[in-house]
Amino acid sequence: MTPSAPPAPGRDAPAELQRFLELYAQETGGAADFEPGVPYRPTTDQLTFAARVAWRNSARCVGRSYWPALEVRDLRQVTEPEAVFRELQEHLRRAWHGGRIRSVISVFGPGVRIVNDQLIRYAGYPDGRGDPRNQSLTAQLLALGWQPPAQRGDFDVLPLAVQTDAGNQLFEWAPEDVQEVGIVHPELGDLGLKWHALPVISDMELRFAGLKFACAPFSGWYLGTEIAARNLADQDRYDRLPDLARRLGLDMSRERTLWRDTALVEMNRAVLSSFDQAGVRIEDHHSITRQFVAFEEREKAARRRVNGQWDWLIPPVSPATTPVWSHSYREDRTLTPGFFHRRRKSGCPVHGN
Ligand code: ARG
Repeated sequence: MTPSAPPAPGRDAPAELQRFLELYAQETGGAADFEPGVPYRPTTDQLTFAARVAWRNSARCVGRSYWPALEVRDLRQVTEPEAVFRELQEHLRRAWHGGRIRSVISVFGPGVRIVNDQLIRYAGYPDGRGDPRNQSLTAQLLALGWQPPAQRGDFDVLPLAVQTDAGNQLFEWAPEDVQEVGIVHPELGDLGLKWHALPVISDMELRFAGLKFACAPFSGWYLGTEIAARNLADQDRYDRLPDLARRLGLDMSRERTLWRDTALVEMNRAVLSSFDQAGVRIEDHHSITRQFVAFEEREKAARRRVNGQWDWLIPPVSPATTPVWSHSYREDRTLTPGFFHRRRKSGCPVHGN
């Protein structure tokens, strides 16, 4: 059932604005009017639609089936660092939701940016403590005046740097802002590890209709493999598979005992069961890939092409056991509405996040 054709936006709208307004009208039935000659300012409803479609278009995200439920906070009037930080605390509260995590994006006004690539990050120190991925961010925050704990640990939460023309301002999270889950293996018990419950990406820009929102942090909930197969397992991250293999009593004398693989699966079991025990929402790679395939079907039915990057959509554990393995995807790197990296980061461009 096609609704009657919505009014087309004015002829002299720049192409990207025109395309966006047409998409908005087509999918929501909302009015595509804009005033020629006046700078375009999206309504809250248009901003909400744009942020949801930006998620739907995210080629690397396997969790996109939830895109229509993204909660969009229109904070375009907020640009002062203190106010931005207070709203980010509120973002964390709304997203956390007592463990029943919700997907949230907060869109701030112009002239403000977040320096950190995620709101919650653990410090990485030169002696190898903490998360090595965050060594340069940690050095940058130390240079801005951050006082690390007297006893430096592996899971010291970094402060947030908010940047404006006036410079950078540091903010410390309150303990209740940062929800974490201790990792307990179902048979071995406490592994002395933990991870934060909310991944909040804060270095990507929301683009649509020819507009850019440089400060628009967004968050969902974790897929177990992100923590267990990458953050805690990668040799250039926490590198904890050898420890776990020893605790499991595995034969590590030769590669072909596959102790790494056994430890990897056990780490994944530990992360999933710990989040479950703590009542914190988390996804497993078998369920999320099935949901992704259902999303592909819905997109097909809506006559839309799924934007995808296969090497990001497959999970790093048992990829060939999941339905995305045998699917192929095409990526349009310029598709808008979309989320784009504001700057090039050092490190692997493919598996950097
Ligand atoms: N892989 C990143 C991390 O481990 C998070 C990326 C976003 N993930 C998500 N489930 N929304 O922190």
